[in-house]
Amino acid sequence: WRLAVLISGRGSNLKALIEACANGRIDGTIVTVVSNRPQAPGLEHARAAGIARTVVDHRSFPDRTAFDRELAAALDSSAPDLVILAGFMRVLTPEFVNRFAGRMVNIHPSLLPALRGLDTHARALAAGMPTHGASVHFVTSELDGGPVIMQARVPVCAGDTSETLAARVQLAEHRLYPAAIALICSGRIQSAGGTVLYDGQPL
Ligand code: GRF
Repeated sequence: WRLAVLISGRGSNLKALIEACANGRIDGTIVTVVSNRPQAPGLEHARAAGIARTVVDHRSFPDRTAFDRELAAALDSSAPDLVILAGFMRVLTPEFVNRFAGRMVNIHPSLLPALRGLDTHARALAAGMPTHGASVHFVTSELDGGPVIMQARVPVCAGDTSETLAARVQLAEHRLYPAAIALICSGRIQSAGGTVLYDGQPL
């Protein structure tokens, strides 16, 4: 599988995916990494692994439509089978989402459908949730609302701050995201009209 990874920041999930491709757990190759931020630290992981990098800086475009058009062109030039959002912090237009329907995934730091949107760790603490986690889902035009593929659960511990909780969730993400992508690249997980099929059966 030809994989394209979109990032905006640190890129620790990108790093986990690079390692999983390198050691054969994912039957795929990351053919391009695209960042909307020129200074994203995660670009360094791509450089170190010899992966092609492209920056599409959202500040250079008048609106989301123009930005997404350029992003789509950048992706199309590397002909990905799967587009992987890994800490990509831009809301995508429905046109862009439809273009990659069924072949674009995201990782979100909560147990969806709980806590869509931003600041999930602080909100989990404020709500007194006993457990928290991360979800991998196919991307639809509903923000953080696409069908869930796989989740990882972590405990919320006494004395947690949003930083300590975020760190625990991120460790889980680094196992979860490669595992989910591996299932997609093996053909066992597929998107079918708003649901997820596992070995051909609805999850
Ligand atoms: C992750 O926590 C992910 O769930 C969220 O953004 C964060 C990205 O972290 N969508 P990193 O850039 O992969 O380190």
